Amino acid sequence: MASTSTMAGNGFRNFAVSCAILCTALYLGDSMSLPIDRTSSPMLDAAAVAAGKITNVHSDHMFIAEYSHGEWRKARIQPYRPIPMAPFALGLHYAQIVFEGMKAYRQDDGGVAVFRTPRHHARFVRSCERMCMPAVPADLFADAVHTLVSVDAGWVPPGPDSAYYLRPFMIASEERMGLKVADEYLFMVLGGPFRPVFTKPLAIKVEREYVRAAAGGTGSAKCAGNYAAAMYPTQIAKDEGFDQILWTNAGSHELVEESGAMNVMFVIDGVVTTPPVTDTILDGVTRISVLQVCADLGIPTAERQIRVDDLVAGVASGSVSEAFGVGTAAAVAPIKTIGVDGARYDLPLAPGPIATQIRARLDAIRHGREHDAHGWMHHVPVASL
Ligand SMILES: Cc1ncc(COP(=O)(O)O)c(C=O)c1O
Repeated sequence: MASTSTMAGNGFRNFAVSCAILCTALYLGDSMSLPIDRTSSPMLDAAAVAAGKITNVHSDHMFIAEYSHGEWRKARIQPYRPIPMAPFALGLHYAQIVFEGMKAYRQDDGGVAVFRTPRHHARFVRSCERMCMPAVPADLFADAVHTLVSVDAGWVPPGPDSAYYLRPFMIASEERMGLKVADEYLFMVLGGPFRPVFTKPLAIKVEREYVRAAAGGTGSAKCAGNYAAAMYPTQIAKDEGFDQILWTNAGSHELVEESGAMNVMFVIDGVVTTPPVTDTILDGVTRISVLQVCADLGIPTAERQIRVDDLVAGVASGSVSEAFGVGTAAAVAPIKTIGVDGARYDLPLAPGPIATQIRARLDAIRHGREHDAHGWMHHVPVASL
């Protein structure tokens, strides 16, 4: 189990530097299987990371593995650096690229724990399958994520709104002119200290023209192309003064789906209500965790379709009392304003009491203040000083 890092600035920095000088493959973890090539020029300023002065930058190391001839090879932790990529690499042209977004949290006792690795792995594998890409075995995925966090533990900031963001991703690296399913891939995990993207209550625009996903498409996969396709309508919404889009179903545009990189929840007559997961909605890890937290707290929930018209009527009548987005990057993000067909409707409270309660419980579990009843946190070993 984890020993603790005190995060004492200079002490930790000296420790990191000595590690680099010795160039040891010191991994205190439960894997021991991954070779570790430590950087000889660490950028870590642990005191600045701990003080929240360094955020949204990459940490010192990365994980990388190569796939060819039907096997994963050369899995390793190495210094963060650019990757060689042929200009004709298939992924760069045909978007065979999938990724995950997950987080490691500094525990109140100084340790570090990763949130729901198996659930993120399962979604990664589903995304790979949809894009004709090879699966990453569960133990390789977990080793990659947990070893990187362990090696770069000094980069995990403390505090309720901070975390170490992890970006596992895979790209088709085979060099080939012409459209085909690639035979060669790179699987990488990157990370760095991170603060939630939204710092104030959101204004979201109900999208009635553009489509993020249609039945039978790739909406439930976390593939790069989905995000590229969302940029143009999102930019229009931003130009109109909104923070994000609230996507609706392709075709009739009557049903609420999800928003940007968040699933959405509405408190309707006291019930936390969210659209069911279909093949047009990403199966959010935060979403399913929030539904569990609600069950634990005795807050009623419903997974059902939500009509835009009912939402508007509910906000006007007061039956819709809260709205919020949930996602790894966004955490629990209160929504203040919903824009529909040129009109704007304001929620009475953003954040409201239910979102606040959910967020506090999730935070407490993630930072080790609340018993982890569902086994969501994977504690990684960190170097003791
Ligand atoms: C399109 C989309 N929906 C929902 C989510 C929320 O998912 P999660 O809670 O797993 O981060 C994300 C973020 O990954 C996303 O990109």
